[in-house]
Amino acid sequence: MPDGTYFLTRYDDCLSVYRGTKTWSSDKKLDFRPNFAASLLYEHHTTSLVFNDPPYHARVRKLLAPAFTPRALRVLQHRIENLVNRLLEAAAEKGEIDLISDFASAIPVQLIGDMLGIPRDERGPLRGWSLAILGALEPVLSRQQFETGVAAVAEFKDYLDNIISNRLRTRHNDPAEILSKLIEASDYVAQVDDGERLSKLELIHNCIFLLNAGHETTTNLIGNAVDLLIRHPDAMHDLREHPDVVETAVEEFLRMESSNQLGNRRAVKDTVLGGIAITAGSYVHICIGAANRDPEQFADPDRLDIRRQPNRHLAFGTGIHACAGMSLARMEAQVALSRLLRRFGCIEPSGSPVRGGRARFRGFTSYPVRLSA
Ligand code: HEM
Repeated sequence: MPDGTYFLTRYDDCLSVYRGTKTWSSDKKLDFRPNFAASLLYEHHTTSLVFNDPPYHARVRKLLAPAFTPRALRVLQHRIENLVNRLLEAAAEKGEIDLISDFASAIPVQLIGDMLGIPRDERGPLRGWSLAILGALEPVLSRQQFETGVAAVAEFKDYLDNIISNRLRTRHNDPAEILSKLIEASDYVAQVDDGERLSKLELIHNCIFLLNAGHETTTNLIGNAVDLLIRHPDAMHDLREHPDVVETAVEEFLRMESSNQLGNRRAVKDTVLGGIAITAGSYVHICIGAANRDPEQFADPDRLDIRRQPNRHLAFGTGIHACAGMSLARMEAQVALSRLLRRFGCIEPSGSPVRGGRARFRGFTSYPVRLSA
């Protein structure tokens, strides 16, 4: 790239960077300085586990793990089904909805709201905060994006601090909530420091990250999937007739229209990648979108094949930072899509869809659809 960074588009090169944890660092303390200076955006993004290396990364990841075990997900499956049914009933009454705000985004916001113990009637600002904080990760940042992002971190931090203080005052502890587990493992509950605990700031920023990580990505997966089906009526018909292929179909939607298009790493030592010598300190952009359409890895990569197997796409990354919420995201998309198709025999655009226009996250901000039995 003109600025001396490298842009990786081959599957094998992306895979090798994801796996080479000893060579490639996720720590962004250096990289976020120019855009974020000493702002709250800097504090937030450099404290979340995804932009850190072990041992801090491993410590947080271990604490999050109980929220994503098969048992925890089984409990959530019920909630997802009920939520999707409610949204579909409301959609049926209206006949015409915005696929993104009335359906795709409502699912992850409610679920993560549950995981973080945020009362239902207080979830209104979550989507806006999350979009503002992630929007600040765009490669080129406007003054307005920066200021909205900083304000969102400040408000979200205050909000979570209040929720946690209330929890401690009322001694409310719900073992099904990740928030309760994290509080127990943090300095909010005074304990001797055993090196495993989270500071208050670490706890708050990783909760904020959970919402951000799971919200826009899942919204985009559901929105992009319906868009793909609308653009491929044969596949829509096929999936409607054969709902049992929904698992491979969701993998194909993830591959073809990956919600998260870019990741980054910095070389901590000299190395060779794809036959090119790369010096320590070099910065690479992992282009997930391109890797997932690499013809060396995927036969006929631009063709939508809802039964594609194998399908080792990189939509969730891989290696030690592989998406912690991938099973949850898959479950949300499978339930949402199969029930949407079952409920409505006709799903068609009723206006022009609007793309988010971001480099890092691929999806729509609005997608009007007409639904009928
Ligand atoms: C379609 C939906 C999703 C996509 C495409 C996605 C994508 C990704 C990717 C590519 C990474 C790796 C980043 C890197 O290595 O640089 C990641 C990490 C992560 N994701 Fe997801 N994600 C999705 C949904 C979720 C959900 C629902 C949650 C949780 C509620 C979640 C939580 C996380 C966490 C905690 C990490 C950090 C893991 C670590 O650093 O060890 N994600 N995700």
